[in-house]
Amino acid sequence: MIKISPSLLAADFTKLGQEVDSIKSADLLHFDVMDGIFVPNISFGLPVLRAVRGVTKLPLDVHLMITKPINYVERFCEFGADMVTIHVEADEPENIRSALLKVKALGKKAGLSVKPATPIRAVEPYAELLDNILVMAVEPGFGGQSFIMGAVDKIAEAAEIAARLGRACDIEVDGGVNPETGRLCANAGATALVAGSDVFRAADRRARIELLRGLK
Ligand code: DX5
Ligand code: ZN
Repeated sequence: MIKISPSLLAADFTKLGQEVDSIKSADLLHFDVMDGIFVPNISFGLPVLRAVRGVTKLPLDVHLMITKPINYVERFCEFGADMVTIHVEADEPENIRSALLKVKALGKKAGLSVKPATPIRAVEPYAELLDNILVMAVEPGFGGQSFIMGAVDKIAEAAEIAARLGRACDIEVDGGVNPETGRLCANAGATALVAGSDVFRAADRRARIELLRGLK
């Protein structure tokens, strides 16, 4: 079965505790951090992560859409992240490698993400460090966008890289995921789906999570 990681970006922030509780049947909780530089939007950061950590047992899947993530990955681990995924476009290669190593040194899972225009081969030099390859199916920065079909082939390529590793490495997809696009992702080899609007707009979130999880 595919893992479901609801994106908190689509939650009602005036009642965050209840919103987190409403998706507790999920496998992970996706936490989107935006710095207004790497992406043209600002979301939330460390204090909110700490608060969320205090009210859920779900593994926290932190997606850093920030420049120079090397400067922040350790704090995100300390504040409660179980997995930290950074962007390959966010810094020079040696700093990307160091940032991933810092996450691993703290005993957390490390992930690397590619924007829609970045080829999947960009993650290959870091493959041996990765627990997660995050394929963006929208331009990062905003929830509620439409799925870019080019992501499907990238998922298949990422799955080949993961298979060559001979150990567990998730292939996660983020952006525009719904039952229809999610099925394409699952068939292409995705092992985890991020879903913001689709889960949080559902009248019955538990049922929606179950439906998405049943796509594979
Ligand atoms: C976009 C974020 C996504 C976003 C997905 O920059 O990384 O995680 O919340 O939202 P939906 O599922 O609504 O496309
Ligand atoms: Zn995300």
